[in-house]
Amino acid sequence: MAKDGSRVGPVVLLGPPGAGKGTQAKRIAARYGIPQVSTGDLLRENVRHGTPLGVKAKDVMARGELVSDQLVCDMLKERLRQPDCRRGCVLDGFPRTAAQARWLDIYLDHEFFEKTGCARQRVIVVRLIVDYNQLLLRLTGRRACPACGRIYNVHLQPPRTNALCDDDGSQLIIRNDDREEVIQERLAAYERQTQPVATYYQRKGRLADVNGDLPVDEVTKVMFWEIDRRSSEAERRSPEPVGGD
Ligand code: AP5
Repeated sequence: MAKDGSRVGPVVLLGPPGAGKGTQAKRIAARYGIPQVSTGDLLRENVRHGTPLGVKAKDVMARGELVSDQLVCDMLKERLRQPDCRRGCVLDGFPRTAAQARWLDIYLDHEFFEKTGCARQRVIVVRLIVDYNQLLLRLTGRRACPACGRIYNVHLQPPRTNALCDDDGSQLIIRNDDREEVIQERLAAYERQTQPVATYYQRKGRLADVNGDLPVDEVTKVMFWEIDRRSSEAERRSPEPVGGD
């Protein structure tokens, strides 16, 4: 939670698959006491439970393509209605198309802040920039703990004991879409559909770029600095309509 109890964000993390959004989102969530809202995790949970949304999303995700804007926006709306999002949240993997970015502005401005009575705040957008070959190394080497969600990398941040989580000893798993042919499609989808999101926020003067090639702790330090800076700027300007710039 922010030291003074004020809202933080929503913080939007942009960046290609493997850029470190999930890794950094967990640290941001812990520092500011706000939830990490990952559309990828929410979708995977739906797939695991075989919900109607999961059934629709399963094959699309396995191919590395994007799930439809409508399905993802409806799912996110449900999540943002939960009381833990009132103090803010870190959005990991959303928005991913220009249409989702426009939807988010309108939803926050006309529904979220209106209905919850929360102080209006602009989204804080941070994009992680990472070299292409580094992305491939990160995605092919990624392993995750199914119990606690901690992320490892066999090349870059291996667990202490082979294939077991350092924290709870669970057997680490490989994500279904971290296969080489699917990785290519995910990276292509990012270029095609998510780069316009960066342009959308850049035009509104809200985009901050961070060098995601740096070691994890250094990326975190720069991220915190950007969020603190943007939060205090927003406080000075508040109240102001979110979509109004
Ligand atoms: P999603 O789950 O969002 O996956 P993604 O965007 O492809 O991102 P990743 O989770 O692969 O990477 P990341 O940036 O979080 O990196 P991480 O921190 O894990 O989406 C999956 C699918 O769901 C999509 O393809 C789509 O089908 C669907 N979907 C989701 N959201 C959607 C939306 N809004 N609209 C439509 N469809 C949607 O790190 C990667 C690895 O690198 C790890 O091993 C980590 O240990 C390592 N690492 C991280 N940072 C560093 C560092 N600084 N140095 C060295 N290693 C590092």
